[in-house]
Amino acid sequence: MVAYLRFAAVAALLCVAQAMMDDDSWLTPYYRRSVISEVGAAAWEHHSVPCNPDVVGSTAACFNAGIPAVGNIDYHWGAPEIAYPTTGEPWGVHLTGPYPDGRSYLVSWYTGAATVGANLTKPDTSSMKAYATAKSSKGHTLKFTGSVITYMRVYTLPELANATYLSPYIHHVVLKNLEPFTSYNYQVSDMSGKLVGSYKFKTLVTRDSKDIYPLKIGLMADVGQSVNTSDTRDHLIANKPRVVIHVGDNTYADVYGASNPDTHDGKGTNQQRWDSHAQLWQPLMSTVPVLNCAANHELETSYIAASINYNTSTFSFPTNYPFQSYSARFPVPGTTSKFGEITPNLYYSTVIGGVVKLITLSNYSPFQPGSPQHTWAMKEFAAVDRKKTPWLFVQFHAPPYHTYYVHYKEMECFMSVYEDVFYQYGVDIVLNGHVHAYERTHPMYKYKPDSCGPMYIVIGDGGNVEGPYRNFVDEINPATNKTYCESLAYNGVGPVAMAASNPSGWGPGYQRAAHAPNCPTLSFQPAGSVGGGPVLVPSNMTKPGDAPMGFCQSSQPVWSAYRDPSFGHAILELLSHSTAHFKWYKNMEGSAMVMDDVVLERLDACPNKAGPVKGGRRLLHAE
Ligand SMILES: *[C@@H]1O[C@H](CO)[C@@H](O)[C@H](O)[C@H]1NC(C)=O
Ligand SMILES: *[C@@H]1O[C@H](CO)[C@@H](O)[C@H](O)[C@H]1NC(C)=O
Ligand SMILES: *[C@@H]1O[C@H](CO)[C@@H](O)[C@H](O)[C@H]1NC(C)=O
Ligand SMILES: *[C@@H]1O[C@H](CO)[C@@H](O)[C@H](O)[C@H]1NC(C)=O
Ligand SMILES: *[C@@H]1O[C@H](CO)[C@@H](O)[C@H](O)[C@H]1NC(C)=O
Ligand SMILES: *[C@@H]1O[C@H](CO)[C@@H](O)[C@H](O)[C@H]1NC(C)=O
Ligand SMILES: [Fe+2]
Repeated sequence: MVAYLRFAAVAALLCVAQAMMDDDSWLTPYYRRSVISEVGAAAWEHHSVPCNPDVVGSTAACFNAGIPAVGNIDYHWGAPEIAYPTTGEPWGVHLTGPYPDGRSYLVSWYTGAATVGANLTKPDTSSMKAYATAKSSKGHTLKFTGSVITYMRVYTLPELANATYLSPYIHHVVLKNLEPFTSYNYQVSDMSGKLVGSYKFKTLVTRDSKDIYPLKIGLMADVGQSVNTSDTRDHLIANKPRVVIHVGDNTYADVYGASNPDTHDGKGTNQQRWDSHAQLWQPLMSTVPVLNCAANHELETSYIAASINYNTSTFSFPTNYPFQSYSARFPVPGTTSKFGEITPNLYYSTVIGGVVKLITLSNYSPFQPGSPQHTWAMKEFAAVDRKKTPWLFVQFHAPPYHTYYVHYKEMECFMSVYEDVFYQYGVDIVLNGHVHAYERTHPMYKYKPDSCGPMYIVIGDGGNVEGPYRNFVDEINPATNKTYCESLAYNGVGPVAMAASNPSGWGPGYQRAAHAPNCPTLSFQPAGSVGGGPVLVPSNMTKPGDAPMGFCQSSQPVWSAYRDPSFGHAILELLSHSTAHFKWYKNMEGSAMVMDDVVLERLDACPNKAGPVKGGRRLLHAE
């Protein structure tokens, strides 16, 4: 009830705002809150590429996630690709940005080495300074000063007490007021404060530039630090994006043992794996700014004998906090002073190249109406000015729309809060990770293709050690001769019984924990799969005369455009205020091949959200 009233209030405000700016310039196609749509020969097609036995190792492996994918191993501790200098030189240099002003970027790096042992003391770094200089191609050299921090991961279990981790020095300097679309050579300070090294990057444009387009944005998620990760990294570098959006799950440090950075026993999260990851990614991240996202492998709850309070984002044990390493190492754009603090560090918005508003949400933080994140997000959406930023993207880690068996329909609770907001504000693209595979939807709304809804892209296939997810939910599991969908259950309770007995009981606990009680976590969808066929796990609550509703479809749903359980990355190249070219690159034996290739165009406004249409072009039909 509360959610409904809030939504109505926002809608009423919007109508007033639109009436006030009811002039012709607003009606030109690209200023209108218009719709992203696929155009050209490939529009509205469907592709479904099953698991490749050659890549995962065998046909048996395709159906058994317990068989590890071939060759998909993290670099061993000490391997040159991940080793870093311990004698004071900077390492793990990475850029975050652009900041919302479009002129600032954060450069972060490490000096020294981590310490692991018992009874460590965190050094006082409050009087230490970090320095950076940036010399533009025009010859000006700018000097900047920033902060140095460290953090400790303390284990409260006695048998892990000797595995306490003290980070290396973490340096953060905001490079402010840089010239747009300008190449910079930059240097950063070593442990003694001396400026060293030679790094290069190019700033993005701001809104008033002639060079806005083409604007190439790299997309990746769930990258980790395996041999496959470095393939993805190198393919991205070769594609020369101006900025990379990383939709979360950076290091997979939390699959390791607390006292061994080479053993995957998951007993404690090995913080040294954040250090190796930083070094592995330096070739990309020191040359291209990255916009990161808080995700489950950043949360790091394991083996500290603490419980998490999602309302306050704190652990019961105060020496550690959730998202501790992520917050210390990847402060979000716009955080200029509170480096390392969790509160301002999980959700944020920024502007890319003057024309893209990116709103980053945390689905692992309280998100319900009344929560700080929700209040913040509603203000952010309401403040979007499509005249200034014609493109509107949203990222958060766990995907609401995908058809893989693992994590199927885990975001219903989150979407009960946000899907109507995305629709109302005309979000063009929603970016997700978490599912280690690729899937792109057609523009959609509530499990139906809908020209007025966002396109959802799952790009969780960066190469991490857990391997690709192999099965579609509508695929037959040879072990049971039934679809994977039919075996979905939580705590042994299938969707129909759960809907009847406990409609908020579906899905992972964090969804309910990060939301006030009684969030709906289950939904059924109408029939509509490629090639037809009945719905799977039909709802017994469909009213007579209604189309049958099911929990899954018996083949690829009509809203799913392209799915392939393989590693890769994507490039979204914006060509104008209204046109973009999207390509998904699949990792194939050391090289990258474009598999999904689609032109997107923002067409005329949707009747339900854009007001009067003059001389409009026809919307494409969904099917
Ligand atoms: C990961 O890399 C190994 C070694 O190059 C390769 O054999 C394997 O096919 C890759 N795995 C995937 C899922 O791409
Ligand atoms: C760490 O401190 C505790 C408590 O003061 C003490 O019992 C323990 O022996 C110390 N461990 C080491 C390795 O110094
Ligand atoms: C910590 O102690 C345990 C048990 O005594 C031992 O197995 C482990 O190797 C130690 N770890 C470190 C990092 O010293
Ligand atoms: C599945 O069906 C195949 C072919 O009919 C049969 O050989 C196999 O034994 C069945 N497996 C199970 C688990 O029922
Ligand atoms: C739906 O199915 C569940 C589980 O089989 C059952 O408990 C419930 O009574 C059914 N509801 C209706 C309306 O038939
Ligand atoms: C979080 O807030 C909700 C709603 O106010 C409340 O019901 C719940 O008990 C709180 N949880 C904790 C752990 O404080
Ligand atoms: Fe994840």
